[in-house]
Amino acid sequence: MYRPTAALCALLSACLCAAERSQPLNARPVIGVLAQENLPEDRFARGSSYIAASYIKYLEGAGARVVPIRINRTEKEYAKTFYSINGLLLPGGDIDLQTSQFSRAAKIFYDLALKANDAGDYFPLWGTCQGLQQLSVLTANKDLLTLTDTLAVALPLTLTPAAQSSRLFRSFPKDLLQSLTEENITSNFHSWSLSMQNFSRNAKLKRFYKVLSTNNDGKKEFISTMEAYRYPFYAVQWHPEKSSFEWIDKPGMVHSTAAVRACFYTGSFFVSEAMKSQHHFSSPMEEEQALIYNFSPIFKRGRAIFVQNYYFD
Ligand SMILES: *[C@@H]1O[C@H](CO)[C@@H](O)[C@H](O)[C@H]1NC(C)=O
Ligand SMILES: *[C@@H]1O[C@H](CO)[C@@H](O)[C@H](O)[C@H]1NC(C)=O
Ligand SMILES: *[C@@H]1O[C@H](CO)[C@@H](O)[C@H](O)[C@H]1NC(C)=O
Repeated sequence: MYRPTAALCALLSACLCAAERSQPLNARPVIGVLAQENLPEDRFARGSSYIAASYIKYLEGAGARVVPIRINRTEKEYAKTFYSINGLLLPGGDIDLQTSQFSRAAKIFYDLALKANDAGDYFPLWGTCQGLQQLSVLTANKDLLTLTDTLAVALPLTLTPAAQSSRLFRSFPKDLLQSLTEENITSNFHSWSLSMQNFSRNAKLKRFYKVLSTNNDGKKEFISTMEAYRYPFYAVQWHPEKSSFEWIDKPGMVHSTAAVRACFYTGSFFVSEAMKSQHHFSSPMEEEQALIYNFSPIFKRGRAIFVQNYYFD
């Protein structure tokens, strides 16, 4: 029988303790949300960019504070922000995934996140709708999206066998997973999708992401939820945040208890990932100046796709 020596035991436990000591959970996580170019038809728009307030509330409701990341900033400024925050959310919207300022900033943060995680510095990314699409473009280094008939429709998720053991869905209550698969409670508001066909044919995407759920518009099967194998990167093509925080009266909008729980559980999962990051601002003053509380959202009234937006110069 192998008996480890006392010295080895001491060494092992010292290592484990050190590992645990170096990774306490960060109970004050701050998450960045990336702004994007204003929509030309937005009559409430001011400045050059916006964030729909639903993404802010989504993270706040799950126990995080939010820092808006503004477009058109220098790489140096983005790097400084990266090492101050504990995760980044890429929201939905309608910009060019290769030429916009949103895509430029997303790439800078994505590259920093790869590098940090490779070096053992935990940094999670979350993409919703356009955010999933942007992540796919960043990973594949090209746009493989295709048009689908998925604008304003609520769908049930078709979970893959990998979903049960996934980091994201493992933590969900069983009855919620059942609702997600049996009821039409995930809001889809997208014209573009990442089809299973293009995903499977692209070695970079296939090696990088584990598909957790798919959906079908009647013609094409597309990815609705995925997580990276080796990185804390997560993406949904559907909109968990809309069920709790958006109120346009349209097909595809669902406010059932199960849909609201799906909003909370996805948000809570991502915030729990951000709690594993130890990044912080260099001073309380700097943190205070960066937080979303410095801005006020605008109530858009009428039949607006987003009930409130934050606008930035
Ligand atoms: C900011 O936008 C202006 C005008 O579009 C552009 O000329 C400039 O290069 C941008 N700066 C950065 C850092 O992207
Ligand atoms: C695959 O990607 C190409 C773009 O590279 C796109 O034109 C095509 O529609 C996509 N096909 C499917 C089935 O997703
Ligand atoms: C739910 O979604 C499926 C598509 O997956 C569709 O066939 C069905 O008609 C939808 N049901 C309702 C009640 O909308």
